Amino acid sequence: MNATKDETVRSPAFRRFRGQPAPTPGSSSGGGTPGTAAEVLPAHTPALFRSAVRQAADLLRAGQVVALPTETVYGLAANALDAEAVARIYEIKGRPAHNPIIVHVAGLEMARRCVATWPPSADKLAAAFWPGPLTLVLPRSKEIPDAVTAGGTTVGVRCPSHPIIQAVIRECGFPLAAPSANPSNRISPTTAEHVRKQLGGKIRCIVDGGPSQVGIESTVLDLTAEPPRVLRPGMIHEGALAAVIGAVRGDARGAPGGETLRSPGLLRRHYAPRAKLVVLSWRDDADLKSQISNLKSQISDCHLIAHSRVPSPKGFGRVSLIPHDPEAFARALYAELHRCDEEGAGWIVVEAPPETPEWTAIQDRLKRAGAT
Ligand code: TXA
Ligand code: MG
Repeated sequence: MNATKDETVRSPAFRRFRGQPAPTPGSSSGGGTPGTAAEVLPAHTPALFRSAVRQAADLLRAGQVVALPTETVYGLAANALDAEAVARIYEIKGRPAHNPIIVHVAGLEMARRCVATWPPSADKLAAAFWPGPLTLVLPRSKEIPDAVTAGGTTVGVRCPSHPIIQAVIRECGFPLAAPSANPSNRISPTTAEHVRKQLGGKIRCIVDGGPSQVGIESTVLDLTAEPPRVLRPGMIHEGALAAVIGAVRGDARGAPGGETLRSPGLLRRHYAPRAKLVVLSWRDDADLKSQISNLKSQISDCHLIAHSRVPSPKGFGRVSLIPHDPEAFARALYAELHRCDEEGAGWIVVEAPPETPEWTAIQDRLKRAGAT
């Protein structure tokens, strides 16, 4: 999956990344094709995989934006070293310019080129959790354009484990800037179909890598803070990080206002379905129905996502049961929320998850999805 000599010669961003001369104007075509339906590229056989990776890499080398699967959620990727290509991501997502984008790398060598310093704690964390759902915030290197960092002095880097994005990065030879592939403030996609429905008219290509295995976004850890600080909880929780590097400061839950400076993406309402979302615990069906009537909602307008106490579906718009296990719950959650929206739910009632560290990231996403 390495770039051929010819391809690297064709790639202006690759030359820039290697410290070679800047490209001639016009060599990067600049972006997606609004109004054109995205092509969804299957990748489930070796031949389809190779072809999808090659097509995605060709578009990325030409400065375009493509949707790629990662193990957390699908990402909307562009060449992280090409400010114009990155600008297209903001445009397609409707993302505020002050919100920086994570840079995805194929491995340690590429990660170190994106940052100005690589502390021992980064080495330890990368050895323990990469490739995987952990983003490390570090001082940026000169090669990372302002468009990626939103003008800030740091960059978030992550080495994803999904074989498709790994292969695409290696084929391109440059890192990929990629936020979640959803319109700003909506639910992240965990299937190619979610991307197609939300952004299919604005991009050329979506590579289908199957349902995301993790299902919620990566843990974002700020290594420029002392002690390092969790800016966004994810399935690699605080305790797991602390076991590798010692003291870690907890996440920003409950203090969203104060957090907007450190991690501008952590808006209070985020990851949100169209329906109103509430988290409830109930003893039995009667208790649940009485709590719902307090919401002044029709029961038939409510879609329920339960993991332990399954009520009778009678009267509800839908009742889904997802596993009482944090990993499996996270994997299923966004697909359930997308489905509730598609079916026109007015309210989504989610059964409260346990208050243990393994569920922290899920609690965080539910809180943000339900914020008004
Ligand atoms: O799992 C993930 O992280 C997915 C996949 C595609 O990799 N990406 C993702 O990107 O969730 P996005 O843009 O939807 O969320 C990135 C979060 C935002 O809250 C952003 O503000 C924060 O990370 N972030 C990115 N760079 C940062 C930086 N330099 N300093 C602080 N926060 C940063
Ligand atoms: Mg996002």
